[in-house]
Amino acid sequence: MGIYDKVTQKDLDAGRKYLMSGSVGGGLPICIESGKGAVITDTNGKEYIDCTSQAWTYNIGFSHRKVIEAVKEQIGKITHVRTSFDTVPKLLLCKKLGEMAPKNLKKIGFCLHGSVANESAMKLAMVNRPGGMKFLAPFENYSGRTLATIGVSWPYHPISKLFQPYMENCVRVPNAYCYRCPMGLSYPKCRIACAEYVKTMLERGVEPVYALILEPMQASGGMIDFPKGYLKRLREICDEFGIPLIFDEIQTGFGRMGRMFASELYDVYPDILTFGKAIAGGYPLAGVMMRDDMELPAAASDSYTFAHFPVSFIAAVATLDVLVEEKLPQRAAKTGAYITRRLKQLQKKYEMIGDVRGPGLMIGIELVKSRKTKEPASEATHHIVNEAIHDGVIFGESKFKGIGNVLKIKPPLVLTEAQADRVLEVFEKNVKKQQDKLAKKR
Ligand SMILES: Cc1ncc(COP(=O)(O)O)c(C=O)c1O
Repeated sequence: MGIYDKVTQKDLDAGRKYLMSGSVGGGLPICIESGKGAVITDTNGKEYIDCTSQAWTYNIGFSHRKVIEAVKEQIGKITHVRTSFDTVPKLLLCKKLGEMAPKNLKKIGFCLHGSVANESAMKLAMVNRPGGMKFLAPFENYSGRTLATIGVSWPYHPISKLFQPYMENCVRVPNAYCYRCPMGLSYPKCRIACAEYVKTMLERGVEPVYALILEPMQASGGMIDFPKGYLKRLREICDEFGIPLIFDEIQTGFGRMGRMFASELYDVYPDILTFGKAIAGGYPLAGVMMRDDMELPAAASDSYTFAHFPVSFIAAVATLDVLVEEKLPQRAAKTGAYITRRLKQLQKKYEMIGDVRGPGLMIGIELVKSRKTKEPASEATHHIVNEAIHDGVIFGESKFKGIGNVLKIKPPLVLTEAQADRVLEVFEKNVKKQQDKLAKKR
C-alpha cells in the first residue's frame, strides 16, 4: 500500500495546522493530487484547467511521459551529486542549453530558484563592472524574494518594506507601462521618454551603476508588455554607458511568449539572461546564461549544495526536447493569439475589461470599474478568480502594486482549443456577474 492509499483527511488537516504560510497571497482551498496536460485534479477528483501552470512552470504540461521516463532512469542511478563533479545529465543539459542559448550567451550556471539565479546575475555584473554601487530596475520589476532580489523588486509592497535595510541596492527607473504611463504621456508620441529618462539619470551621474536588470515583459508586477522600441532603446543606452543589461527571462523563457526566449521575440539581447521555472518540466532548476566574452566569477563565489541536481538536469533535457519536438513555442503563439482575439471581442462587450496584454500564452487582463477613469476593479478581480475555481478554471491574479486588478491566463502551452474555449466561457460568465454587480452599485 502506498502513502496515498493510507492517508486520511485528519492527517491532512493536522499537517495544514503546522504549515507556515509563505504562499503567494494565501492558500487556495485545493489539495492537488495529480496533473495531466493542462489539467490538475484534486484529492476529491475535481478537475481544473490550470491557467497558472503552477507558478508558470509546466510549459510542457503536467506529467509529461518523457520527463517521467527520464527522471525514473536517473533516480535509479543517483539523485544528488556535489557541484564539483560532472554528471551525464549536467553535461547533456549544458550542451543542449548552450546550443539553444541566444547569440553569444554561451556561459551557463545553475541553481534551483529564480531568485538565486538573479542574485547570480547580479554577482556576475559586479564582477564585470567593479566600482559600481547600485542596480537599476524599472518600476514594477519583480526579481524574487531573496534579500538582494527584493531590493530590485517592487518597493511599495508592505512585505518589501519590512526588509528596507536590504533595499538600498537599487535605483528605480520608470517602466513603459503604457496603460498607466508613469510619466503621464502616451505612446508613440512620448518617443519612449521612460527609456530616455534612464539615459538622463546616467548622464547626470546617479551612483555608479552595476547593471540594469529587468524582465522583458513584467509578469508579477502586472503583466506589463512593453511597446516596440523600449527594450531596444535600453540596450542602446546600456551600450553607450558600458552597463551590462540583465534580462530576467524566468517567466518569459521556454516558449511562453511564442518564441523560445523573449529576447528572440523582441530581437534585443542582454549580456546576462536568467532562466528558471519552466526549464525542467516541474522540477526545480534555474540559472544564468552570460556572454562568453565576459569575465567569469571565482569558482566559490556562487555555489550551492544542491545546485547541480541531476534529477532536475535530466528532467530539463527531456523538457527542452519536448518543447522543440512538439513545437510548443509556435503553439503558444497560435493559442495565445486565439485567446487574445476572443478577449478583445469581449472587451467590446464588457466595460470592465480595460486592457488585454500578451503575447503568446503570457496573457494579462487589467480589470477596471470604468474604462474612462481606469479605476482598478480589484475586489471584482478577486471574486472572478475565486469563483472561477468552482467552475474548474484556475486563473492567476496579480496582487501587486497594491492594486491587484490583473487577471492572468498563462496555462501550459499544450492547452487545447476546447480548453481555451472553456477558459473563455468561465472568464466571461464571471466578468458578466461582476460587471452586473458594479452596475447595480452605481
Ligand atoms: C520574473 C521572475 N523572476 C524571478 C522570480 C523568482 O523565482 P523563484 O520564485 O524561483 O525564486 C520569479 C518568480 O515568480 C519571476 O516571476
